[in-house]
Amino acid sequence: MGSNSCLNFAITHHCVYLSPSFSPNSKLHNPNPNHNQFLLSRSSFIPIATSSFALHSNHTLSHPRSKKLPLRNAPNFYVAASAKAVPLKVMISGAPASGKGTQCELITQKYGLVHIAAGDLLRVEVAAASENGKRAKEYMEKGELVPDEIVVMMVKERLLQPDSQEKGWLLDGYPRSSSQAAALEDFGIHPDIFILLEVPEDNLVERVVGRRLDPLTGKIYHLKYSPPESEEIASRLTQRFDDTEERVKLRLHTHHQNVEAVLSTYKDITVKVNGNVAKENVFAQIDAALTELLEQREVNSGSLTA
Ligand code: AP5
Repeated sequence: MGSNSCLNFAITHHCVYLSPSFSPNSKLHNPNPNHNQFLLSRSSFIPIATSSFALHSNHTLSHPRSKKLPLRNAPNFYVAASAKAVPLKVMISGAPASGKGTQCELITQKYGLVHIAAGDLLRVEVAAASENGKRAKEYMEKGELVPDEIVVMMVKERLLQPDSQEKGWLLDGYPRSSSQAAALEDFGIHPDIFILLEVPEDNLVERVVGRRLDPLTGKIYHLKYSPPESEEIASRLTQRFDDTEERVKLRLHTHHQNVEAVLSTYKDITVKVNGNVAKENVFAQIDAALTELLEQREVNSGSLTA
């Protein structure tokens, strides 16, 4: 089995499969060597490739949904090739406790994106008692936005890390103001989709005060809606310092002051999601939107090659 830095090859009976990152266990590998067919499950497809081509024994290159292209000097066997993926760039937004973090867990599990949460980055600084952390805490305790000079570069640097660039990113709770949105645009950072979770305000306070976090796994729980699986987990759960009824009201006030400016920046790519149903049903809506986005890309890349 050959291997080079760009493309790897796998030969099984009548088929040759090429992918940017083939391994013997790769899901790109056709599980049934008797099928001369390009097989990709959606979940394996997403992090790896956004366009795919098949080189047939009649020497044509085609995308599954496009016309066949003639190829010279083509080998006399069936080849499926995956072009390097263009990673997904997703923003998720919503009021405090609308379920952003909960959905991010589910999205990253399926789509393999790098989860970047502005609040989490700030809490790391607070826990480290860094200068930025000490300053940030003053604002977080009041439910106000932490100043841009602390947040903007912090998020930008995380977005530009190699893992975010390679796997794609899922930006949670950022941008939260017109100046943050403008800074991202200035840096040339633009999402493919902006997901907005909608939850009636009455439910948000209850979600905040019942929220608990597992410091070992980072998993988010709710005492009523998503209780811990065991006594052992229950005994180690912690509560965020800003998760009180009084503070969430301040956070909601800040959210209302800023949300419109952010929404107007991304209105053309906004998908509104009903966040007031069970978390699995919220995820089903998000999953449908991301799937549609990827399918659209696949069609577009096919028509480009046609
Ligand atoms: P941040 O940490 O981002 O807090 P937030 O926006 O208030 O959002 P939360 O993390 O509270 O909620 P969530 O939407 O993630 O909900 P979750 O999934 O946990 O920001 C904190 C502070 O940092 C800000 O106040 C600000 O000071 C600062 N900051 C952050 N970003 C900044 C920025 N860009 N610029 C400046 N400052 C910034 O769910 C909540 C609870 O509900 C959980 O218990 C969960 O189990 C439960 N739940 C979730 N989904 C469901 C469901 N479908 N049904 C029932 N319960 C559910």
